[in-house]
Amino acid sequence: MPLLAFETSCDETSAAVIHHNRVLSNVVSSQVRLHAEYGGVVPELAAREHLRNLVPVARSALRQAGVSAESLEAVCATQGPGLPSALMVGLRAAQAMAFALSRPFVGIHHHEAHLYSPWIHGQPPVADFENFQPNVSLIVSGGHTMLVRVPADMKPRLLGSTLDDAAGECFDKVGKLMGLPYPAGPAIDRLAEGGDCAAFDFPRPLINSQDHDFSFSGLKTSVRYFLKDHPALMNERKQIQNLCASVQGAIVDVLVSKTIRAARSTGVRCVTASGGVACNRALRSKLATACQSGGLCLRLAEPGFCTDNAAMIGILAERRIEVCPAGSSLSGDILPNWPLGDYLIN
Ligand code: KG4
Ligand code: ZN
Repeated sequence: MPLLAFETSCDETSAAVIHHNRVLSNVVSSQVRLHAEYGGVVPELAAREHLRNLVPVARSALRQAGVSAESLEAVCATQGPGLPSALMVGLRAAQAMAFALSRPFVGIHHHEAHLYSPWIHGQPPVADFENFQPNVSLIVSGGHTMLVRVPADMKPRLLGSTLDDAAGECFDKVGKLMGLPYPAGPAIDRLAEGGDCAAFDFPRPLINSQDHDFSFSGLKTSVRYFLKDHPALMNERKQIQNLCASVQGAIVDVLVSKTIRAARSTGVRCVTASGGVACNRALRSKLATACQSGGLCLRLAEPGFCTDNAAMIGILAERRIEVCPAGSSLSGDILPNWPLGDYLIN
């Protein structure tokens, strides 16, 4: 029987219906326009918007899948990590629905679910992750930048994460300094296409460190000083393109080089990537080149599944139900700081 999944950990309200690793529907309502005027996600507004959108999004996911609520096997939702008030909406809705239907509820770890999104592909999308473990997975978005080792049993181990800003946050903050609308990642990606990534030299923080951590706040600060020193630069389109290409080049170099090093040092043959920044074309192509020359297989999430979505939550929930048909506790609470790999608290 199919299951219904909710994702409301940040600024995307999403519902999906999953059956036997197949995505029957995946509806995503993005709040990007709402938060654009504030230059970032405003948690209180995000929660209110989730409240407004969740029922229509869930209805449309069920309709598109051709499934009735009564025929669901379980209802699941992101339990953490994420914005507390935003998580609360999806979690409580899923628990209430599970209670009303007398079905199990399953609480899912958001980052762990990201590890499944590179395996969702095709039309209708199907997840085929079984044959490609172990791997090293780069999860890179506006809220997170992390490297995870995914062994054959799919019990992930966090290798490293950002010590300050996430890579997407760096794109967005640099864009703000340049006067680009939020979120600036896609605009920088487009502008960089016409620029020279060697035009300006920006730092590549922690690129040679032996750990698997990242740091992007210093890069943002160096762009701030660079713009202060070159006030006329923003008047010339070519220079704007060069700046975008140079900043993007610095971010991508760090992400690619640390991902490949993590794959090498943990002895895996496969690399995956997901999260909003994994839509970035330079990152996709540089990762592909680096993996090819290093003899590593690469699996990138399709752009539509890079950003937050309920399909990845449902795919993982289906596996959980196989192991524990009773699901999680209906009285379980949100876990805004849930560490990856910690199963004891669920
Ligand atoms: O996964 P996501 O939708 O939401 C979370 O942050 O959880 O990721 C959004 C982030 C934003 O920072 C946005 O600027 C960045 O992903 N992003 C990109 C691109 N598309 C989205 N960054 C660089 N290049 C892109 N093409
Ligand atoms: Zn995410």
